[in-house]
Amino acid sequence: MCDTPVVRGFVAGVRASIGAAPSPEAACEAIRPRFAELLDDPDWLPDDFRESAPESGMGGGIGQWLLFRASDASLSLFSLVVPPGAQTPVHDHLAWGLVGLYRGTQDEEIFAERDGGLELLERRSLRPGDFYALLPPRDDIHRVRTTSDETSVSIHLLTNDTGCVWRHAYDPESGRRTPFRSGYVNVACDE
Ligand SMILES: [Fe+2]
Repeated sequence: MCDTPVVRGFVAGVRASIGAAPSPEAACEAIRPRFAELLDDPDWLPDDFRESAPESGMGGGIGQWLLFRASDASLSLFSLVVPPGAQTPVHDHLAWGLVGLYRGTQDEEIFAERDGGLELLERRSLRPGDFYALLPPRDDIHRVRTTSDETSVSIHLLTNDTGCVWRHAYDPESGRRTPFRSGYVNVACDE
């Protein structure tokens, strides 16, 4: 994990915001300025957490690095490193939170389950500093692809232990979903 003053301060602020907010929507709203600041700061994320990973649960050399995890698994902060041209599977997260781009550029496709299949709802291009609140079921199923020559790095703040929960990967054509656990490159999941 990444136990630095910036990460500690960020997490403390996030926890205070969540504790004081009446709803996930309100908590995301309260966290926005802090999250924007994190994406704007070029220096806080150590190099190790910007590395792709040849062996990874996501495939394609995609590295998912755990920065912080609450002991009760109610919160996780991680970086997702996607090499140029690589793409995640279509997947869900099963928790609300904030996701933003830190380095590189990405195209993102957002899906929804409809009549046993998947419907493509939206395509968007992300640049560093862009971020959004993920409030399931809204925006919960997506895939991202790196469009820059450099690896893309996105920062995820989600209210579960995203890398270790069993969630779902989807076949984009048939909509068939399969159990999926991405894991983290640097930290094991309990069995
Ligand atoms: Fe995702």
